[in-house]
Amino acid sequence: MKSDNTNIKVTTVRDGEQDIEAKVGANLLEVLRENNVSIAANCGGRGTCGKCVVHIDGEERLACQTEVTEGMQLKVSSGEESFVILEDYASGEKLADSIDNYDNLCIGVDIGTTTVVLQLIDAKSGKIASTRSFLNAQRQYGEDVISRIQCANEGDLDALTDAIRSNLLAAIKSLCSDVGVEPTQLKYICIAGNTTMMFLLLHYECQSLGVFPFEPEFKHKDQYTFFETFGVDTCDCPVYLVPWVSAYVGGDITAGYLDCRGNGSETAFLIDMGTNGEMMLWTKDKILCTSTAAGPAFEGGGITYGTGSIPGAISKIDYTGDSFTFETIAGEPPVGICGSGVLDASACLLRGEFVDETGRMEDPYFDEGVVIAKKANGKPILFTQKDVRELQLAKSAIRAGVEILLSEAGLTISQLDAVYLAGGFGQKLRIESAVEVGLLPEEMAQKVRSIGNSSLGGAVRICRDLKMLEDAKELAEKAEEIQLSAHPDFQNFFMDYMAFADL
Ligand code: FES
Repeated sequence: MKSDNTNIKVTTVRDGEQDIEAKVGANLLEVLRENNVSIAANCGGRGTCGKCVVHIDGEERLACQTEVTEGMQLKVSSGEESFVILEDYASGEKLADSIDNYDNLCIGVDIGTTTVVLQLIDAKSGKIASTRSFLNAQRQYGEDVISRIQCANEGDLDALTDAIRSNLLAAIKSLCSDVGVEPTQLKYICIAGNTTMMFLLLHYECQSLGVFPFEPEFKHKDQYTFFETFGVDTCDCPVYLVPWVSAYVGGDITAGYLDCRGNGSETAFLIDMGTNGEMMLWTKDKILCTSTAAGPAFEGGGITYGTGSIPGAISKIDYTGDSFTFETIAGEPPVGICGSGVLDASACLLRGEFVDETGRMEDPYFDEGVVIAKKANGKPILFTQKDVRELQLAKSAIRAGVEILLSEAGLTISQLDAVYLAGGFGQKLRIESAVEVGLLPEEMAQKVRSIGNSSLGGAVRICRDLKMLEDAKELAEKAEEIQLSAHPDFQNFFMDYMAFADL
């Protein structure tokens, strides 16, 4: 009698060939996920992103649209970035030798929708002993919070929680081993991240985050046990989660505020350019915040040749009048374009008149795209009409949010002490490109400071001084959220700023 199960052969760049047992007829993407095979699946398996490509019998197929067949053999080539240590944080400050007191070790964490970073800190001296970063394994369930919420609501909550918990536990262990201690010796852990990331970590149902009025069903607690946070009780150190303001203004922006406030600006604007663009504007008397669905373009997502900030990602582009020049992360041969490159590419296309002020590409580029670079194998890396549209959507969503927060606060740009730009762009963002495409108003340019991962920065500050957790709580209570979708001016601003023309 024929069994329902079969052995399939899966070849990946990282692990080579492996045999996996699977049910005939099972969804291939699900089987790969269950067996921890790293594969990109940006749309979460809906068949729209085209990223989950596998090679079967010399043919390209989408894993999410393929059923397992008897003795299937396949090659997976996407998703390798999941195990590339990201440049920005990989070097870390190896100060293990200068740690003063091993009784005061704690860990600060930022769980980003795309990237996760952890730092081991000596709370007493404030020194950072070691750093780890990795791409969030939940990306296999979609690249934005909306797809993750949908997956969680459709039965994948356990898998999403397991994905982040197991990665964090491994990273915590590995950080501790850098200084020769056990995780049981940690004093506490402080975690920042958007509200969806926190819910998935805590294994909370996410329904309330995905439906109107978007009020998180679970209230923030002052302190969590290790077991509540990670599902195991191997340690008994407390875990602090930086409080969230609402469903879409998370602890990452609260932490970001703490990080920026440390720079002493009294009236300032913080813009975190993630997939969910979160913003906070504060004066002596009030704090306003909002979030806007910017989409993943600023992280290289949804872009034809887009990629995360991995070695080989084109992070800087110039146009000399007749050709493009570029720089890649770690100087590796180009593999794709990351967020800062997307912004540069758009500014260059505008400057070179490849696109007009409405964002339409001139012929023949409208159909063919513009060749920005060539891969090592000679294949072109193109920037297409669709990519320009993605960038326009992202930049107008952010810009509309900026304008509305300023007007709600009754402030002009000249009254701001500083504008902090946080997010995956890190230090690579070029302010000129941001201004050129209209992402930011020109008058802001002089005030902008790129601060990289301010969510991690805030979590680390709390680790150094736990009293700051009280400030974070107070802030989360005091912050007034402006719902952009319900704001009477949002649609107009959004439409106006889609164009590249100066208003
Ligand atoms: S097309 Fe398969 S995950 Fe997006």
